Amino acid sequence: MILEGEEGEAKRIALKTIVKVGEVLGATRLVKLKRAHISGISYKNIGDEGLEFIRKLVELNANVACRTTTNPSAIPVNTEYLPVSEDFERRQKEIHSYLSTMGAELTLSCIPYEYSPPSLGEQIGWGESNAVLYANTILGARTNREAAPLTILEAIVARAPLIGLRTDEGRLPSCVVVVDKKLESEMKNNKIAPSIVGYTIGRVVKNGVPFIKCKVYGYIKEFLAGIGASSSIGMVHLDGISPEAEKATRHLRNLEKITVDYKEVRECEELITMSFEEADAYLLGCPHLSPSELKSILMYSTSTHRDISVILTTSAWVYQKFKQLIDKLRKRGFIVLPGTCLVVAPLENLDIKRIITDSAKAAYYLSSQGLEVSIVPREVILK
Ligand code: F3S
Repeated sequence: MILEGEEGEAKRIALKTIVKVGEVLGATRLVKLKRAHISGISYKNIGDEGLEFIRKLVELNANVACRTTTNPSAIPVNTEYLPVSEDFERRQKEIHSYLSTMGAELTLSCIPYEYSPPSLGEQIGWGESNAVLYANTILGARTNREAAPLTILEAIVARAPLIGLRTDEGRLPSCVVVVDKKLESEMKNNKIAPSIVGYTIGRVVKNGVPFIKCKVYGYIKEFLAGIGASSSIGMVHLDGISPEAEKATRHLRNLEKITVDYKEVRECEELITMSFEEADAYLLGCPHLSPSELKSILMYSTSTHRDISVILTTSAWVYQKFKQLIDKLRKRGFIVLPGTCLVVAPLENLDIKRIITDSAKAAYYLSSQGLEVSIVPREVILK
């Protein structure tokens, strides 16, 4: 009925596209989705073509058919902290307004698992790489790394092709990664950020579903985001942590074993970082900071005076629910940018050339935009 247009033109186009993608990938049927997360909503990234695509869907009366959250946008909730041109702001807000008209929640965040957590085995339609890795690896939900335009179409019909990580076979381990003990202890002692270890694993493994033997000691989402930034991996089995890891151990025999050591991580770090005397700013919040992380940053820092700005990125959802916390952090001298991230924001409007972060994902994308970036553990930044 949907394909014959009985439920409207937007749904017909959305389902037709999803079926076509499924056919190309070899799916035999579709699955129903309870949740979708629309990525690619930053005007800086999608430009007028992306804006036009979303506008067309709204003109065809598109509505989301399942709970739908949204990725960070190019402007923060309070634009005074990141000035953009009037025209740019108007276009970004147009995108917000279309998504809202369709029924999507303007959470403007890359960590939808914080406020719309799927359950074990639940089929969801997410594309943001860190969120996909977290949902599959930590929550046991099921999604592929969907392309951004597909996430909006999947939200409209609440359907996705049954393929890849949505199937039992697609979630079987493909290799075993062993992180050496020296590296684990460097992470534990805050000498190396977990995100760069994840980034190195992704760079070495590239694809598939690695079974990883490594104690991460906190910062799991940063570690997973690192993997996603350097590979096409959408799920890993973290030994002792992932809900499906125990079952996966039955399939490890005969798999290739890859060891990642300290030297390899340092070599990898050199590819995306630079050493410099003084930074223009520090950045925390890639992936976005959760309310509990923001609270611990507030507790950790006592000084209100900073020689170098510390930028914290978090969601519009956190801003709406924890406004007092944001205000306290701002009074403590932090620059808090809710609803955006430096990778999808127009950086040219900030006078920043050298940045220090705890995130390998941010380092990778910001260095590819011409910034000089260095990675250090969060505890060192907050000291
Ligand atoms: Fe999120 Fe932006 Fe990093 S979308 S994962 S904060 S690059």
